[in-house]
Amino acid sequence: MSRLRSAMQRGKSVVLENTEVIKSSNKKKTKANIKQEDKTLSEPSSYHFFNDLPEISAYRFHLLQWYDQNKRELPWRTVATTEPDVNIRTYAVWVSEIMLQQTQVATVIDYYNKWMKRWPTVETLAAATLEEVNQMWAGLGYYSRGRRLHEGAKKVVSDLNKQMPRTTKELLKWLPGVGRYTAGAIGSIALGQVTGVVDGNVIRVLCRVRAIGADSTGPVVTEALWKIADTLVDTERPGDFNQAMMELGARVCTPKSPLCSQCPIQTHCNAFRKVSIKQEKDSKRLQSKLASKLNTSVPDIENCSAGGSCNLCLSEDWDSQMGVQNYPRKSVKKAPRVEKTLTCIVQHQRGEEVEYLLTQRPSKGLLAGMWELPSMVLESDLSENKHRGLLCIMMQRFLETSLDTDSFQFVGEVVHIFSHIHQTYIVFSVCVSDCSEKEQEQKTCWLTKSALQGAAVSTGLKKIMKLYESSSKVNSGDVKRKLSPGVGKEKQFNENKKRKVGADNGGPKQLRLSQFFSTSKPAGKTNSKDA
Ligand code: ADE
Repeated sequence: MSRLRSAMQRGKSVVLENTEVIKSSNKKKTKANIKQEDKTLSEPSSYHFFNDLPEISAYRFHLLQWYDQNKRELPWRTVATTEPDVNIRTYAVWVSEIMLQQTQVATVIDYYNKWMKRWPTVETLAAATLEEVNQMWAGLGYYSRGRRLHEGAKKVVSDLNKQMPRTTKELLKWLPGVGRYTAGAIGSIALGQVTGVVDGNVIRVLCRVRAIGADSTGPVVTEALWKIADTLVDTERPGDFNQAMMELGARVCTPKSPLCSQCPIQTHCNAFRKVSIKQEKDSKRLQSKLASKLNTSVPDIENCSAGGSCNLCLSEDWDSQMGVQNYPRKSVKKAPRVEKTLTCIVQHQRGEEVEYLLTQRPSKGLLAGMWELPSMVLESDLSENKHRGLLCIMMQRFLETSLDTDSFQFVGEVVHIFSHIHQTYIVFSVCVSDCSEKEQEQKTCWLTKSALQGAAVSTGLKKIMKLYESSSKVNSGDVKRKLSPGVGKEKQFNENKKRKVGADNGGPKQLRLSQFFSTSKPAGKTNSKDA
């Protein structure tokens, strides 16, 4: 059975089931038919789907015509349409989709071009080290994405004879970090697989187009959106169709100030129709005082026929100020976890060069395998004295030399927001003259400032180093730090007041990072796609 026919039959069966509700409500309610009725009532109404073949064809035509005239030339799109080697094409689209998972198009372009230049094939990526991959990824955020690409490449080389999977299903099966969305995107764009995709932009477009106002993050809406996407996707040009949906969401059907007047699928949009009819009704009401008469004379075609029982409909009141932006609706996001981390910049003068002590994070979890300053997560709020005590203990793990509590200088606080953690780094510094390291499990190294800038370090660490530089400039007029013999003490920092930088500071006495530097490049983030 064709996809379209089956989709239409699905729509038809929903209509029949809705008719059944009306009939059964006239019958005496037995236990069995109440159960049947509940099931029927929770079945979404056909108003929220595409059931009509000519309308589906027209939707595809309008959207693709707009895309052909308006699409941005993006490097991965060029590869997808010009690269004849299916293996390279699939690899190239895979890389782009992983980079685009949580990062905006504009930010990805540069990273993508550099990546493809360095590792143009899956084999070359498999031969790289994780260190090199992390270094290339530095600044893009969500570092596990780079690690998974690398793992996937090694798997393709070792288990699949260097051949990228050739179907959406196989992509999903073999590649770590590839979920339903990413597999569908790679499958349709690189391999011409006829499968719809649903990412953040598509959710917004489809929720508006089909006036789906129930929580767009819930399972009922999610399944409905995948069904609609699979029904709509163009069978001849699935990759272009999917990218056109994303492009429309990014440039026309935007979260705020959507450009409905420029929308190629305006005539298919239930939200637009609903808003227009409401506006028309309101203006007619204003013109004549025969409101109630007009209400019955204007056909009520803008609403779902299931009344209050539809689980895809708006659960709360319509806000007429918001227009089509009443869609989509989201449940309230969980607040990020608040965490405080004590961290120390350990500095050592080696000849003319200053070096910094770095430690490697565990190979699993947040920022896995990345290099960071010696740090520890704090369980509770502590006094500065307690911080100093903890720093002494922490440094004993890494260095042969023992430090006393007033060796450490308070530098300030840096706030860094991860997707799920609101992190405050409490930053101290210390200069040491003896840099001998202790034998212990966690890897450590000493890096010069320039090596540090090129290393695979997180944006949080870069922010900390910027604060440190700024505080040393303020305190010493950029004079080289003096080292006391034995344990170094940074006397020049004594007048250091408490500083706090990042997202939530702003008191008049506090110094902002931006007062000293142009802000460190935060990679433009988007929502996760393979939720
Ligand atoms: N976001 C995810 N995939 C994309 C693509 N291929 N083009 C533009 N934006 C995207």
